[in-house]
Amino acid sequence: MTSFQVAIDGPASAGKSTVAKLVAQKFGFIYCDTGAMYRAVTLAALQQGVAMDDEAAIIEIAQHLPLRFEAGDPQQVFLGDQNVTQLIRTSEVAANVSAVAAIGEVRTAMVAMQREIAATDNIVMDGRDIGTTVLPQAPVKIFMVASAYERARRRYEDNKQRGLPTQSIEALQAAIELRDQKDSTRAVSPLTQAPDAIRLDTTHLTIEEVVNEISEIIEKTQQIG
Ligand code: DC
Repeated sequence: MTSFQVAIDGPASAGKSTVAKLVAQKFGFIYCDTGAMYRAVTLAALQQGVAMDDEAAIIEIAQHLPLRFEAGDPQQVFLGDQNVTQLIRTSEVAANVSAVAAIGEVRTAMVAMQREIAATDNIVMDGRDIGTTVLPQAPVKIFMVASAYERARRRYEDNKQRGLPTQSIEALQAAIELRDQKDSTRAVSPLTQAPDAIRLDTTHLTIEEVVNEISEIIEKTQQIG
């Protein structure tokens, strides 16, 4: 039996992972955060003192990454025995991950791992290239967008709620726009909407509304299939 796959793509901070997790929970599917995988490669390179322009060393790390996910809320990410769930979210990793994700051989290694994860279980996978490259046959593809201001505002509120130090909304918006630009103009697998993906603008929607919309799409697709 082949698995049922839901691909959720879109720019940084559009709410993909929050929504993808809830949709996965609702349908009893597994959830795979592919951004966490690129972040884990970046962290491993930083921990090993590899220069961010040493592509050969970074590719070597990606090809032998001892990455593991464990269920939990949030999902726990391990590199070997080290729990890196928090460490992959630091601003140092965020500042370097776009460069790492732009390396073709790093992507090849990650895509192979992602396809393996998606082969056996029903899955919701979120990222930038899931509908276009990783799982082009996925029966449900969502491209989730929101205005840069709204994404910055959500990040700001999120930081405050978690008691984390935060930049201003304006500074966050500038960083988001820069990351969007890097992710959508890179040569390898740039962020683009698959022609058969459904575009969902979440600027004026609550999390619950987005989850409901995607759930309806999944249910309709399952009925047809
Ligand atoms: O979704 P995120 O912010 O955790 O992603 C981290 C970085 O990884 C981001 O710069 C885009 C990149 N990425 C990617 O290139 N392809 C994916 N499938 C997922 C993330």
